Amino acid sequence: MWKCAMLVCLVSNFVGGDRNHVMTDFDRASWLDDQDFKDMIDYSFEGSRCCNIFVEGLMERVDVMFHQFIKLYGHDYTVNNINRRCNAYLLLAEKPRSLINAVKKVPTAIALTEILIIFNSEIEENSLLFNASFYKNANVNLISPTGRWSLSEMFLLPRVFKKVSRNSNMKHNKGIVDLEGRQLQVATFYVPPMSYLSTSENRTVNEVEGEFFSSNDTMEWDGVEVKLFVIMAKHLNFTWMIRKPNGGYRYGRAKNSTWQGGMIGQLFRKEVDLAFGGIWFTYDPYRYVNLSVPWYQVSIHFLVPRPHPIINFWALTTPITLEVWIAVVVTIAMQSLNIWCKARINPKVPSRFKSFSNTLLELIGRLLGSWAPRQTIGLRVQLHLWHFAGLLIVTAYSSSLAARLTTPDYEQRIDTADQFLESNLTWGREGPIPKFDDYFEEQYREKMRERFQTEKSPAQRQKKIDQGNYAIVGKIIRSMFFPENEIRSSDLHNYRVMKESFGKYYVCFATQPWLVLSIDRMMTRLIEHGFANYFLKDVIQRRTSISLREVRIEQDGDNVDGAVPLQLKPLGAGFIVLFLGHAIATIIFYFELRQNNDEKSILRTIMDMKRVPCMSDQSCRLRRARHQTLRKKRTTNQWNVLIPD
Ligand SMILES: *[C@@H]1O[C@H](CO)[C@@H](O)[C@H](O)[C@H]1NC(C)=O
Ligand SMILES: *[C@@H]1O[C@H](CO)[C@@H](O)[C@H](O)[C@H]1NC(C)=O
Ligand SMILES: *[C@@H]1O[C@H](CO)[C@@H](O)[C@H](O)[C@H]1NC(C)=O
Ligand SMILES: *[C@@H]1O[C@H](CO)[C@@H](O)[C@H](O)[C@H]1NC(C)=O
Repeated sequence: MWKCAMLVCLVSNFVGGDRNHVMTDFDRASWLDDQDFKDMIDYSFEGSRCCNIFVEGLMERVDVMFHQFIKLYGHDYTVNNINRRCNAYLLLAEKPRSLINAVKKVPTAIALTEILIIFNSEIEENSLLFNASFYKNANVNLISPTGRWSLSEMFLLPRVFKKVSRNSNMKHNKGIVDLEGRQLQVATFYVPPMSYLSTSENRTVNEVEGEFFSSNDTMEWDGVEVKLFVIMAKHLNFTWMIRKPNGGYRYGRAKNSTWQGGMIGQLFRKEVDLAFGGIWFTYDPYRYVNLSVPWYQVSIHFLVPRPHPIINFWALTTPITLEVWIAVVVTIAMQSLNIWCKARINPKVPSRFKSFSNTLLELIGRLLGSWAPRQTIGLRVQLHLWHFAGLLIVTAYSSSLAARLTTPDYEQRIDTADQFLESNLTWGREGPIPKFDDYFEEQYREKMRERFQTEKSPAQRQKKIDQGNYAIVGKIIRSMFFPENEIRSSDLHNYRVMKESFGKYYVCFATQPWLVLSIDRMMTRLIEHGFANYFLKDVIQRRTSISLREVRIEQDGDNVDGAVPLQLKPLGAGFIVLFLGHAIATIIFYFELRQNNDEKSILRTIMDMKRVPCMSDQSCRLRRARHQTLRKKRTTNQWNVLIPD
């Protein structure tokens, strides 16, 4: 609403009422030729399809101009009311004061705004209307019966009203324009692969201190956005000074309807004209500065520790499940019991089955196929089936074991946000705390904030990487991962890229309003002609290390090439059985040795007795008795030692 505009009611009622009602009577009174006026309108409002009109003054005189305008313009218009979708503004009045009031209502900060002022009486040289700063970023043409002026383009300093002789000079230059070597202040920082600028020195420019990039090293003047910027500078014909962001932030933060710190803050305070370096096309900066068309999409990703192969000591038990193991044990026990009972009832069944432990051992042996069948009267069918079952179980176990042991098991991979949270990983970075709202969706925001720990130095990060359970934050650009902080190549060795990304953003340049149309046009051209893609490919190919490429390669699962040789650990259970058997055998062997010794001493005594003839009957009788006991002892002995009678 044009609240303070003092309106001639008649005019407003009249035009508001019926726009088709054109009072042709006034045409004759106009001081502007129809064709002349039409040209001026066309040049001033190039391509516009609607217009905001402000009129004020004595009814008769402004009405003539007003009706002439709407007749010639031929598109929609609003009177004394702002339709923000229309960028064209016609201001028509007789007093400078009312025009100045009108200009104050126009959103002049927007560079798209085009103003045509018709001053319906003689204009003085020093009129306030000629104050260029008054119009901010808008394009302005001024017509009065005494002359016509065009305000020079806002990308050239200083802006002045130039008197024009031809209507075509009223045309506003837009898009790819000539900045005539104007020096632009630019902000960026070291953010591979966008910009590799790093060496800087402190200087004061336009009363603002800044850290300006000063290196002559061509390796530093590299980066996708730096390359795009240099082409833009060449085509728009501007020179530049590039500085670092200030205020402790890289991009800054919106706070109490201003923007604090970082490159966006520098733009907001008009310290710089242009900023680039992975600026996200998001709503927050968009409200404060002008963003160019985006040129690429990046996504926020994490590097997570690679899953380690699991080497299980009990790997030999894993081919079959616990239930199957239990079933096998129960079956053996029941079968042994069955045969043992049979042997006690049925006399035909071989008597060795009368011992339960013998039965158990033999059945286990038969199941494993290591027991040659001996006498099996009365049990033939049963034991043949037992053999057959054994064959099946052993075959199933062996093949499953072979498959398992030669392809290693891995810990669960971390591929989704939920798995990330489950696995208790922490993450962090140097510098300002990230804006979690931009990084994560709502459901993960709080949890990811809890996991975040600020880092003070590369050494601290290094320590966390060494300790494990740490994720490295970064971006994926053209399927290549770029960490937010520098990470040593050797530290990346144990990391892989998590499959799911957390957020996707478009990157763009941020500019002052008066530059955005030119940067937009240049950017669109560079994208269309494939420069953006070319530089992206080129820079990534030249500047990314092998270790950054390798984090994309999976080392677990299907990508393993060929079978791996078996290590000691997965065979652990087997070796335990072996050692157990060995221990038992050793103990038995020890007892055998002792028994053997006893027997030898018995033998020796008997021999001694035989060698010496007995002296008397009594002694002979005693010796025979002793001989008898020794022989008895011998026969109870199982060991096959020859004792001569
Ligand atoms: C620049 O930013 C302002 C404010 O956010 C916006 O209204 C305007 O449309 C943008 N574009 C130009 C070209 O000024
Ligand atoms: C760039 O601007 C300078 C300074 O005004 C001018 O001399 C030069 O011709 C311009 N270059 C181009 C290519 O327009
Ligand atoms: C430049 O100024 C910044 C702070 O504004 C300071 O941290 C830095 O050390 C200065 N660099 C030099 C070379 O003086
Ligand atoms: C999760 O990590 C923290 C610190 O890294 C540690 O103190 C905690 O014990 C871990 N919890 C689990 C369940 O692993």
